[in-house]
Amino acid sequence: MNDDPRRHVLRAGFDRSAQDYERTRPVCPPLLFDDLLEVAGLVPGDHVVEIGCGTGQATVPLAERGLAVTAVELGADLAALARSRLAGFPTSEVVTSSFEDWQLAPAESPVDAVVAVNSLHWVDPELRYAKPHRLLRPGGCMAVADCVRVQPADADAFWTQVQEDYRVVGYEGDPPPAPERVGPRHLPAEAGALFEEVASRRYPFEARFTAEDYLANLGTQSGTHALGGARSADFLARVERRLDSLGWPALTVGFVALLTVGRRLP
Ligand SMILES: C[S@@+](CC[C@H](N)C(=O)[O-])C[C@H]1O[C@@H](n2cnc3c(N)ncnc32)[C@H](O)[C@@H]1O
Repeated sequence: MNDDPRRHVLRAGFDRSAQDYERTRPVCPPLLFDDLLEVAGLVPGDHVVEIGCGTGQATVPLAERGLAVTAVELGADLAALARSRLAGFPTSEVVTSSFEDWQLAPAESPVDAVVAVNSLHWVDPELRYAKPHRLLRPGGCMAVADCVRVQPADADAFWTQVQEDYRVVGYEGDPPPAPERVGPRHLPAEAGALFEEVASRRYPFEARFTAEDYLANLGTQSGTHALGGARSADFLARVERRLDSLGWPALTVGFVALLTVGRRLP
């Protein structure tokens, strides 16, 4: 397998703080899930495989819309939390496995859709589109969604000030872009022989956090884990001091959710 060891280390990091993950990670707006069902032509009872469900941020909205979801989650603690949240949905299940290793039971029919929310980039690139294509029935759809952090021009001063903490510890990546610079996003070239794009939509939204929950959310992020133990602790301590100096304000965080749907080509 031509896969990247660093991605394997970072993708395992979400399971360290499953409770914080459950409490503080954003959920895509309801309209995104409504559109996903409509565009993919999904109806109640259809079988959907979800890649990397975390604690069920997308699984619950999909199950609430009547879909039978098989959610495949790498982290045991995250999977256990998702399983408990899905207890009221007997046709949905959470399997603890990597998506790469998981297999559909031989007796099962090909599935109606494969969904990945904030997770596809953690999957081996060689299998990201090829394995969903193998799992899907003819005409079935693959839906990819991500919540991208953005910073509107009128965002609180905190969001500009906190960039200093990112800079000092050498956090990878750029500050959040303005919302209008994000999306819509299209299927990449490597998916072009397997899927025909049928929708590409964007959904700006905001989430409100207590300062404590925002700090916990930062602790769940792969970019924070990537700093390594001491630097990540230093980063979180800096942000904590900044929030403390501001009196632990409630925070509004901007996102744009992106949805891209491809229909399986023969
Ligand atoms: C950023 S989280 C997204 C979780 C959830 N879907 C959400 O929208 O919040 C990525 C999730 O994918 C899981 N994951 C990463 N690589 C995976 C893989 N190869 N197979 C299955 N799950 C994976 C992680 O454990 C984590 O729960």
